[in-house]
Amino acid sequence: MPQFPPSEGAPPGLPDAAALAQLAGALFKALPGQEPGAGSVLQRLMPGLDLPGGPSPSPALAGVDAPAHPQPAGLTPPPGSFGPATPASVPLGALPPGQQAVPTSPQSAANLPASLPARVPHALAPNGVPDLVLGAAPGYDGRAGSLVLGEPRAAAAASPPDTAAPRGDSATATAGAPYYFLDQPRPEAIAVATPLRTPAPGGDALLGALAGLDVPQLDLGAPARAPAAPAGGSGFYFLDHATPAVVQAPPQVNAAAHPPFDVHAVRRDFPILRERVNGRPLVWFDNAATTQKPQAVIDRLAHFYAHENSNIHRAAHELAARATDAYEGARETVRRFIGAGSVEEIIFVRGTTEAINLVAKTWGARNIGAGDEIIVSHLEHHANIVPWQKLAAEKGAKLRVIPVDDSGQVILEEYQRLLNDRTKIVSVTQVSNALGTVVPVKEIIDVAHRHGVRTLVDAAQSVSHMRVDVRALDTDFLVFSGHKIFGPTGIGVVYGKREVLEDMPPWQGGGNMIADVTFERTVFHGPPTRFEAGTGNIADAVGLGAALEYVERIGIEAIGRYEHALLEYATAQMQPIPGVRLVGTARDKASVLSFVLAGYSTDEVGKALNQEGIAVRTGHHCAQPILRRFGLETTVRPSLAFYNTCEEVDRMVKVVRQLAGSRR
Ligand code: ALA
Repeated sequence: MPQFPPSEGAPPGLPDAAALAQLAGALFKALPGQEPGAGSVLQRLMPGLDLPGGPSPSPALAGVDAPAHPQPAGLTPPPGSFGPATPASVPLGALPPGQQAVPTSPQSAANLPASLPARVPHALAPNGVPDLVLGAAPGYDGRAGSLVLGEPRAAAAASPPDTAAPRGDSATATAGAPYYFLDQPRPEAIAVATPLRTPAPGGDALLGALAGLDVPQLDLGAPARAPAAPAGGSGFYFLDHATPAVVQAPPQVNAAAHPPFDVHAVRRDFPILRERVNGRPLVWFDNAATTQKPQAVIDRLAHFYAHENSNIHRAAHELAARATDAYEGARETVRRFIGAGSVEEIIFVRGTTEAINLVAKTWGARNIGAGDEIIVSHLEHHANIVPWQKLAAEKGAKLRVIPVDDSGQVILEEYQRLLNDRTKIVSVTQVSNALGTVVPVKEIIDVAHRHGVRTLVDAAQSVSHMRVDVRALDTDFLVFSGHKIFGPTGIGVVYGKREVLEDMPPWQGGGNMIADVTFERTVFHGPPTRFEAGTGNIADAVGLGAALEYVERIGIEAIGRYEHALLEYATAQMQPIPGVRLVGTARDKASVLSFVLAGYSTDEVGKALNQEGIAVRTGHHCAQPILRRFGLETTVRPSLAFYNTCEEVDRMVKVVRQLAGSRR
């Protein structure tokens, strides 16, 4: 990497801000495959730079496909964008190409050196393009950066893994594995036994590529804990059409079956992922606590406050109409995202905790009496225990708990035994925040309904990882938080079946939820307004809508498949480390990799990871009962999202290995 000493003005060979702007403009005006290529533009502007590809067209870029996701109908691409379906393509006050390279506030020439460090490259991509080129790129469509930095995308058909190019050898990237992290075998992965459950033809490129790498099959327990997949079934919760098969040859990947998932393109949508912590690039493995926000959500919030901010419903003025449209538009987006039949079934609340409290204090207060029973599972977050416990104490009702097996999966036979004619509601999580277990909520709901029992699904930890469809589930209630699905904090959702909501009293009284008030009596609105007293969190509801639209554009199925492969990779890396105990080894898991390390407190592990820029949660994760079921008070809990990579997992594994090796 070239070193540029601080000096007055731009150092020799380094383009100044205007030149960078010109560079970015040229790059982002060119369509993929057309001149001028990034290499030629850079060579012109930075003749001293030693680009591996030589003059344009750069071989380093030759194998790089155009962004994979087409611009969706109805969105006008901003000038210079050929890009994909990221919401960031919406030009909400976005900067034109190159604008970011120019100082945002006026500064005198004397001050130029102060901003110089931010204007020199900090790193080179494998093809030699300096990283700040992307900083000069259009702010609304970071995916064009794949083209510039030569980050390879999944090819139409996977190359055999033995032709993988060595890391950094961009000139042969077209012949190599389509993902940078697959270009070298990982000895520790290969050393561990049995072959990967190979995805059937039609699996996505990442799964196929991982299969080619011969990542081991996870040995997550004895057959009793990990029963064989039913004949004809996939064995994966996210693949309902595939049949697992162990094959000798690497499978041909049918890229047409699923659009390729480009994690590096996705990462560029999340500005915080460029942060450094303790001098290292941030690794955000605390997604179960909260997720990071794409630029599209940040832009949407800024746009709301800059152009639409008003209270809703009450005024006849223009901004009230804009704010109302934006808020109700977000409600429609939520409805579509979870497959509800009507926007009247979507109530905005602060988050999952408030959502469950609302149901307990309204539906629960009306329908639960002395001697009645409420069923939850051993996996529940405190938010799905305490409100029911309080209600039970007030009413003289009883809380019953579905036990889990040693893998952390609920025992359905025990659940069936708990149901009786005093049972009024079954309230269960869909994914455990502490263990990652994917709970078979559809079976639980069906059994409950056969007994005439209402159901609530806590989807806080599932909705960002898998398709959640309330009508397919047929649940009576479903709740989730916006901030765990790339939206803002302070906004969440209660879905309730219309006929159930209509029979529920309001829980808070005040403005907005009334049709008429006299001193003698109040007539309430119907749902959902009846449950939204006072001024709600208007902007963040709008931000949640933008987050869900973002997820829709990437595709929740693609997200689920990628994350599942990543979790399997991480599990295979962590499991063999001496002293590591994985907590939660159910066959169906999402996102979470809880563990403890012999000889260390969970705090010590968390701090060591933080030292290396890796953020994980340590503690009881607001789920003390399930940790105690495994004899623990705390765990270390890395939790993954679709912007995480195998390389980040490797960084975590390295730290844990070092700890394990230094105190045995
Ligand atoms: N429920 C959040 C977690 O699991 C806070 O970390």
